[in-house]
Amino acid sequence: MRVLITGGAGFIASQIADAHVARGDDVVVIDSLITGRREFVPARARFYQTDIRDLSMREIFERERPQLVNHHAAQASVSASVRDPVFDADVNVLGTIRLAALAVEFGAEYFVFASTGGALYGEPDRLPADESTPILPLSPYGCAKSVAEAYLALFGRTNGLRACCLRYANVYGPRQDPHGEAGVVAIFVRALLDRKPATIFGDGEQTRDFVFVDDVVRANLLAADRRIEGALNVGTGQGTSVNAVYQILARLTRSDAAPAYGPPRAGDVRHITLAAAAAQRHLGWTPATSLDIGLAATAAWFAEQPG
Ligand SMILES: NC(=O)c1ccc[n+]([C@@H]2O[C@H](COP(=O)([O-])OP(=O)(O)OC[C@H]3O[C@@H](n4cnc5c(N)ncnc54)[C@H](O)[C@@H]3O)[C@@H](O)[C@H]2O)c1
Repeated sequence: MRVLITGGAGFIASQIADAHVARGDDVVVIDSLITGRREFVPARARFYQTDIRDLSMREIFERERPQLVNHHAAQASVSASVRDPVFDADVNVLGTIRLAALAVEFGAEYFVFASTGGALYGEPDRLPADESTPILPLSPYGCAKSVAEAYLALFGRTNGLRACCLRYANVYGPRQDPHGEAGVVAIFVRALLDRKPATIFGDGEQTRDFVFVDDVVRANLLAADRRIEGALNVGTGQGTSVNAVYQILARLTRSDAAPAYGPPRAGDVRHITLAAAAAQRHLGWTPATSLDIGLAATAAWFAEQPG
């Protein structure tokens, strides 16, 4: 299968690219390298360094004619979206529309979109939130992802584009950027290993649903195989506080450093966990990695990296 993966030099999609290459698929990676790293792109993938909004994307589609488009390139920070909602929408809404239009024009059979469950539902009355939970985002990032989902559904109705939106919880694991604003696990583990202070925004009792990157990669491959249409949560249903994650990582890195506390960040939700029964039903997917195992694997990987 010919697979075109956007954001494939980034944390999650570089590992999806690895998995497709390992299956023998013909993989094309698009990434602007704004946050991604060239060395994460599999050696056997063809790599184009370009922005998904660039006109050159048309030539790439014309040449490569992907059967599957897996779209992960994004402005991926909630805080950055609050500071600059126009840029966020430009990349996350218009960029996705452009890509979906190219997928239609060049006859792609299936489109997988990296959406969010963590930032889509706001503060739901009932947790874990399933896919029928009202979409009430509290950040431009969440809003843009929901608008992008709506466009993919529209292209499905009007142009026959078959698309699956995977609504991720808080993904963590090797290769996550420890120097960005998103990705609390990577930020904490890097700071703890380097014996530098880590900051928790708010009181740290906010809870998140942490899902390991290997499980997210598996959900992408299952979606590609089963070609389910619509939106599916990808999470564990378990909530863990940011304080608890810090404590586990401190133990794993043998640090007794206390975190610093800062003001809560605009756009962040207080509590969110995702019910993934639909992913189990339609994809046969359940998370396989416990938080303890996943955090240990993540800490071990970061310990091997330069600070
Ligand atoms: N990490 C999470 O917890 C999480 C949760 C929900 C959804 N997501 C979504 O998953 C996707 C991947 O996230 P990630 O955590 O791997 O982030 P990431 O920043 O590591 O990956 C994004 C990649 O996209 C590239 N990129 C950004 N803008 C681009 C553009 N305009 N054109 C081309 N390339 C561009 C970056 O260079 C980077 O390699 C994103 O769509 C994100 O919104 C992530």
